[in-house]
Amino acid sequence: MTFRGMLLTQDDDGVHAAITDLTEDQLPDHDVLINVSHSTVNYKDGMAVMGRPGVVRGYPMVPGVDVVGSVAEDVAGFSAGDLVTVNGFDVGEAHWGGFAEKARMKSEWLTLLPTGISPAQAAAIGTAGYTAMLSVIALEQQGITPDRGPIVVTGAAGGVGSVAIAVLAKLGHHVIASTGRADAEGDYLRRLGASEVVDRAELSEPGKPFAKPVYAAAIDPVGSSTLANVLARMQPDGVVTACGLAQGSDLSTTVLPFILRGVRLIGINCVHRPQADRDEAWARLATDLDSSLLDQITSTVGLAGVPQVAADILDGQVRGRVVVDLNL
Ligand SMILES: NC(=O)c1ccc[n+]([C@@H]2O[C@H](COP(=O)([O-])OP(=O)(O)OC[C@H]3O[C@@H](n4cnc5c(N)ncnc54)[C@H](OP(=O)(O)O)[C@@H]3O)[C@@H](O)[C@H]2O)c1
Repeated sequence: MTFRGMLLTQDDDGVHAAITDLTEDQLPDHDVLINVSHSTVNYKDGMAVMGRPGVVRGYPMVPGVDVVGSVAEDVAGFSAGDLVTVNGFDVGEAHWGGFAEKARMKSEWLTLLPTGISPAQAAAIGTAGYTAMLSVIALEQQGITPDRGPIVVTGAAGGVGSVAIAVLAKLGHHVIASTGRADAEGDYLRRLGASEVVDRAELSEPGKPFAKPVYAAAIDPVGSSTLANVLARMQPDGVVTACGLAQGSDLSTTVLPFILRGVRLIGINCVHRPQADRDEAWARLATDLDSSLLDQITSTVGLAGVPQVAADILDGQVRGRVVVDLNL
């Protein structure tokens, strides 16, 4: 029995992505077989499919860091038919991932979908949305409440940014969306709940290490000069979460925001998170993310559409989240 999947191979000419027939005995030797219904194209998947270095650890590889589907047979705490998601654990990087109709995963990687979240919605949320929720929870753990002042979300029209804005707005925060696409995506960001939409050029060029305080908190998937400028504009005791490098992995700043304003910089790594953190984040997504907004954030492609989306996401041209429907 064969099934369809995207396979990345490498030769002297580079990395090649092909949709091909695979068999179960090609899958890794993990304990749970999953009938995959959905995945998504995350920034990392864009890098993998486009052959950028730093993501895929070995070839051939089925990319797709998000896996959503049903458990195929009873195993270790799961029953056949259970709807599950896997986010992280180097899936799609070191282990075959979600861009195929079947996948084998370790049972300890699985998270049961909370009631009220469908497989398509779980994929729409995916790693980016789950990381956005981890970022929101991290701000809350540091005492950020709506009365503290505005929260800036950078990379606003991307996956992490879109979900972060929708959740923060629903929780009553004043959200400032920083985007390079204010003209094209301003209405979209306001529909998600942004109170203000600003041009990312305000933050993306190298600036002063210490500036007028503006933000009570920040969620930053962008890094580089943007993160440095955000740190410089934090209010006293402000909190910044850093999860991404869409602008760059560099960070040139000074200690001034930390020692003169008590600013806290919290790193977010979703990949190797304890199960309790995953369950908390997914439960919160079930209650604090408006599912009608999730529909607005999401577009859907089949496997054949993945290469174009991969190119677009590296070019900063994807709005929100792109679900890969394995049934298309
Ligand atoms: N730490 C973790 O565990 C974790 C988990 C998930 C994702 N991430 C990382 O988080 C980042 C965002 O992921 P994503 O899925 O949200 O990606 P995405 O959908 O591509 O969104 C990134 C957004 O960043 C902005 N951007 C792109 N290039 C930029 C540049 N040169 N300068 C300034 N802004 C730029 C764009 O937003 P605008 O068009 O609105 O400006 C873009 O939509 C990636 O680096 C990803 O690898 C990390």
